[in-house]
Amino acid sequence: EPAPTRPHKTASYILDDAPELGRLFDGIGGMSGGGAASRLLVNYPEPHRSEILDYLFKPNFGASLHILKVGIGGDGQTTDGTEPSHMHYKGDENYFRGYEWWLMKEAKKRNPNIKLIGLPWSFPGWLGSGRSDPYANMTMTALYVVSWILGAKKHHNLDIDYIGIWNEKEPYKTYIKILREKLNEKDLNGVKIIANDDHWDPISNYLGLDPRIQNAIDVIGVHYPGTHTLQDALKTNKAIWSTEDCSIFNHEDGGGFWARILNQNYVNGQMTSTIAWNLVSSYYPQLLFERDGLLTAKEPWSGHYAVEAPIWITAHTTQFAQPGWRYLKTVGHLFNGGSCVALTDGLGNLTVIIETMSHQYSQCHKTNVSFYQVSEQVITFFLQGTFKELTMLQVWYSKLGKKPWNEIFQQLPPLKINGAFSLRLDLDEVYTLTTITTGQKGSHPTPPESRPFPSNFEDNFNVGNSPFSAAPHFADQTGVFEYFTNDQNMAGHGFTLRQVLNQRPISWGEDADQTISIIGDHNWRDIKITCDVYMEATMTGGIFIAGRVNKPGSFIQSAQGVFFWIFANGSYAVTSDLETKMVMKTGSSGAKLENWYTLILNIRDSSAYGMLNNRVLWKAQLKHLPRNGWAAIGTHSFEFGQFDNFHIQA
Ligand code: GAL
Ligand code: CA
Repeated sequence: EPAPTRPHKTASYILDDAPELGRLFDGIGGMSGGGAASRLLVNYPEPHRSEILDYLFKPNFGASLHILKVGIGGDGQTTDGTEPSHMHYKGDENYFRGYEWWLMKEAKKRNPNIKLIGLPWSFPGWLGSGRSDPYANMTMTALYVVSWILGAKKHHNLDIDYIGIWNEKEPYKTYIKILREKLNEKDLNGVKIIANDDHWDPISNYLGLDPRIQNAIDVIGVHYPGTHTLQDALKTNKAIWSTEDCSIFNHEDGGGFWARILNQNYVNGQMTSTIAWNLVSSYYPQLLFERDGLLTAKEPWSGHYAVEAPIWITAHTTQFAQPGWRYLKTVGHLFNGGSCVALTDGLGNLTVIIETMSHQYSQCHKTNVSFYQVSEQVITFFLQGTFKELTMLQVWYSKLGKKPWNEIFQQLPPLKINGAFSLRLDLDEVYTLTTITTGQKGSHPTPPESRPFPSNFEDNFNVGNSPFSAAPHFADQTGVFEYFTNDQNMAGHGFTLRQVLNQRPISWGEDADQTISIIGDHNWRDIKITCDVYMEATMTGGIFIAGRVNKPGSFIQSAQGVFFWIFANGSYAVTSDLETKMVMKTGSSGAKLENWYTLILNIRDSSAYGMLNNRVLWKAQLKHLPRNGWAAIGTHSFEFGQFDNFHIQA
């Protein structure tokens, strides 16, 4: 049905670099970590893994990100899983765990100028001295963070540009000062501190009141600011960034939100950098915040991945303006809704980004956006200052909003200009007008078709020298599971997977009291799991395999399913929860410490049985249980335990 015709509203704007310029642009970024959101990416086969990395990092290709922010693994649950610390125990140091090192190197390989940020979520337990905050000994914690930066340089030749405090927690002034001091002592004066990845206050206040905090901090970083800032923050004269933002399903509406805030975080809030949580959705889709990444790559077993709107919306800015450029002061909100930012490198280049996202198609999932109106409009720009001489601008265009979504990041014919130009804007559009001619909608061959997790899967963990510390597709939800080499002669079990935490970490989110790593397909119902297990903890030790595990992430404490346990005291149990409060069966297993046992858990419809070394130990009827869920392995507490010859038939 055609819309009623009405006169287009017209307004004019000036693009001028002659008056004072606006703030320095610091770049657009993506966040890996906070947590475990990139978990499955590392397991992608080539060439698909490299293709995905190209879409994220390669300049003039896709999202072409300026900033990569990573979580500093701290052994605890941080939203979609745990990531390993470089220091599980006091005195322990290992800079080859997890995948963030690898990811940073891949990013640098593609863009040597990409800026790197590190930020802790959880911390290993020994930093807490039995308390649940990492500030029991602030010097020790500062040195722990400093060693991560030094390790990045020493082992991976990575220069960390910015370091954070503690994700979304109260800022401790004393800790911030100590961190600055310890950085400087190690000649890391160039590493800038971002504080404190939470709200504008109280950190903005602290800056005004305390000159040592003022000197320690370079950037005020806030999360999900809803494009707005506070006067307190502006008064500090520090760079102000949205250091975590977006967190929205990555279809076109999510892209619409992203388009709006990439402009309006500056227009409304004077923020000069915006970082998306998360970089890439590489976690099982039933984990928390499904597909809240710039790109989706959650099927390493098939090689399938999907490049959608947020990648190309990012490109509208990142391919045409670089950190170090400056915003012009002469544009901002458009008269009939939408916004416009303009940036220059100070050498005559100009990039103008316009968005007209409607309220309906750019909703935020974190905060309520009060209604605003956008309507069709004709806008005229007058070019002044250096830009007066420009004769042509390249044009890149996206149409979001109402389906069909078939135009995203299209190159349109260049615009001939002569001191002025006009554009007719519709709703839900994004335009980039620029002197930069290197823009490109990069593409790789169509990735393989999506496929479910293989129903027959096995791993014997016989990997002597893996570049990664974790076995493919295991997604640790509490505890850390790593490849392990037994040095004693352990007939047939030289290489295993081991749960390596012996102490509860300083949680950021909700760690369970047991450890657990999930794998497979959340839709699995009937399943046979076989696994060799080895308990290492005396008295209280226990180990399990499980099926139909229903809840992950921050809900892991209350996960249900069918859990088959054996304990170091010679007993066994079948429980329908991880916490072992809902016991279905118990008895004696005869299993002992430091022996290998083969466990089999077989679940079919509403019955199940368990075997130990080929002997049926129990049979059970299942009532009030989750009907489907992942397979899992784990231990009864934060204790060492090993797993080998893992096999699933689903
Ligand atoms: C943030 C947090 C992230 C992730 C995200 C999900 O507050 O820092 O780790 O949980 O929320 O939206
Ligand atoms: Ca093995």
